Amino acid sequence: RTRSIVRGVGSYLPRRKLTNQDLEKLVETSHDWIVQRTGIEERHIAEDDETTSVLGIKAAEAALADAGLTADDIDLVICATSTPDYTFPSTATMIQTGLGMTHGAAFDLQAVCTGFVYAVSTADKFLQSGSHKRALVIGAETFSRILDWNDRTTCVLFGDGAGALVLEAQEGEGTSADRGVLTSHLRSDGRYRDKLYVDGGPGSTKTTGVLKMEGREVFKFAVGMVADVVQDAFKATGTSADELKWFVPHQANKRIITASADKLGIAPEKVVITVNKHGNTSAASIPLALDAARKDGRIQDGDLVMIEAIGGGFTWGSALIRW
Ligand code: ACO
Repeated sequence: RTRSIVRGVGSYLPRRKLTNQDLEKLVETSHDWIVQRTGIEERHIAEDDETTSVLGIKAAEAALADAGLTADDIDLVICATSTPDYTFPSTATMIQTGLGMTHGAAFDLQAVCTGFVYAVSTADKFLQSGSHKRALVIGAETFSRILDWNDRTTCVLFGDGAGALVLEAQEGEGTSADRGVLTSHLRSDGRYRDKLYVDGGPGSTKTTGVLKMEGREVFKFAVGMVADVVQDAFKATGTSADELKWFVPHQANKRIITASADKLGIAPEKVVITVNKHGNTSAASIPLALDAARKDGRIQDGDLVMIEAIGGGFTWGSALIRW
C-alpha cells in the first residue's frame, strides 16, 4: 500500500519578539501569571510586511531545503490557516506563486488550531489515492491580527508563525511501507462555537473581528478530547504510549499538554514543548514543534511520533507518524 512519508520539515517565526515583560506594559498582567497559567514566555508578532502567506512561503522553503527538493517536485499545496491574507484567493495559491509554482493544486483548509492535523490527514488521503505525489503541508497564522489587544484574557496567549512538512507518496513493502502517516483521526462538534470564535466575517459584521474565548471552558473540554483521538490512533495501529517516541501536541498551553500526556500515560520526557518560545500559533504550532525537535536531534528516522490538536469549532484530531 501507499504511505505518505515525511521528506522534510521547516518553520519560520516573524522577526519581532514580544516578551511577557513587554505585555506588562500593554495590559494588566504579569510574567509570573502568564508563565504559571500557560508556560508562555515570549511570542513573535508579524510586522505589516509579514503576512500569513509570507510566513508560509518561508516555512515551505525551509521544508523543501530540508527535503533536498524544489517546488518543481511538489504537486499539492495545502495551507491550514484561519488568518488568511485575503478572504480569497486562498493563502495556499499565494504561497504556490511565492514558490514559483504554476503547476499542481493549492488550497486552504480551515480547522483553527486543529488545522495542521486536518491538513496532514487530507494530504495523506490525496497521496494514498495516487492522484498526487508530493505535498507541502503548511500551517501558517498571524493571530496577532485578530486579537483584542485590550483583552488580557486572550492577547497574552497567542503568537504568529508558520511551519511546513513535505509528504511524499511511497509504495511497496519493506521499510518504507512501515514509515509515514500510519493513521489519522479527525473530529468536530459545532455546538461549541461560542466557546472559541472570531466575532466577525463576511456573513456577520463584515469586518475581520476579534477572537473571543471562554478559556476555562475550553480547558475543561480539551484534555478529554485530546485523550479520545490519541486513543483512537493507538487502537487503529495496535500501538501504545510505551511505543511512542515523541508526543508533539498543539502548543496552546503547557498545562493542557502536561495534563493530556499524564492522562494518556505518556512519559514527560517524550513530550515536545515549544509553547514557551512562541505562544499559541494555532495551525502553525505543531510543525513549529516538529521542526524544533527534528533540528535539535530529538526526532530521528524511524521514531514513532504522535501529533494532536484541539481548536475552535470545536475541532480535534490526531495523527500517528513513523518518521
Ligand atoms: N493576567 C493576569 N490575570 C489574568 C489574565 C492575565 N493575562 N487573564 C485573566 N486573568 C485573571 C482573571 O480575570 C481572573 O481573575 P478573577 O479571579 O479576579 O476573576 C483570574 O486571572 C483567573 O482567570 P481564569 O480565566 O479562571 O484563569 P485560568 O486558570 O482558567 O487560566 C487560561 C486562563 C490560561 C486562559 C486557561 O483557562 C486556559 O489555558 N484555557 C485554555 C485556553 C486555550 O488553550 N485555548 C486555546 C485552545 S484552542 C486554540 O488553540 C485556538
